[in-house]
Amino acid sequence: MAEELILATGTKTEQYEALYPQLKALITQSGGDLIANMANMAAALKQQFNWLWVGFYLVQGESLMVGPFQGPIACVRIDKGKGVCGQAWAQRKFFIVDDVREFPGHIACNSLSQSEIVLPIYKQGEVIAVLDVDSTHKAHFDNIDELWLTRFIELLTL
Ligand code: SME
Repeated sequence: MAEELILATGTKTEQYEALYPQLKALITQSGGDLIANMANMAAALKQQFNWLWVGFYLVQGESLMVGPFQGPIACVRIDKGKGVCGQAWAQRKFFIVDDVREFPGHIACNSLSQSEIVLPIYKQGEVIAVLDVDSTHKAHFDNIDELWLTRFIELLTL
């Protein structure tokens, strides 16, 4: 098992391309513990991209509960349909928010956050968690992030 990530430079795509096989190896070799794998995924993404916040909220009943993450302290519980995370869960779709101030109901866990991307994580057709990434820059995320982060989170439910 790799003990140190090899960090990449270059375009965003090149960075994702370099990180993906390393995380895939780490996750497939270390067994199937969801929380452990989420923890390493959040750490690896933070190390590579240095976003403000990257982490997971896990479905717990009718709420999302904060899970493994990297970054400043975060809201603990988000109700279904609330905020970007709760909407991604309720609507079963990803969200790219260029300016969080313009998203109705956005939950500001950290005032430095300007834009975010949230993707639902499915297991056997059910949303079991969401991945949330926040940036200090406006309009930081695009379809390249959506494409690659979708691939990353699929590693969690192989
Ligand atoms: N902004 C999110 C809440 C989670 S934090 O950003 C870590 C939302 O509106 O769902």
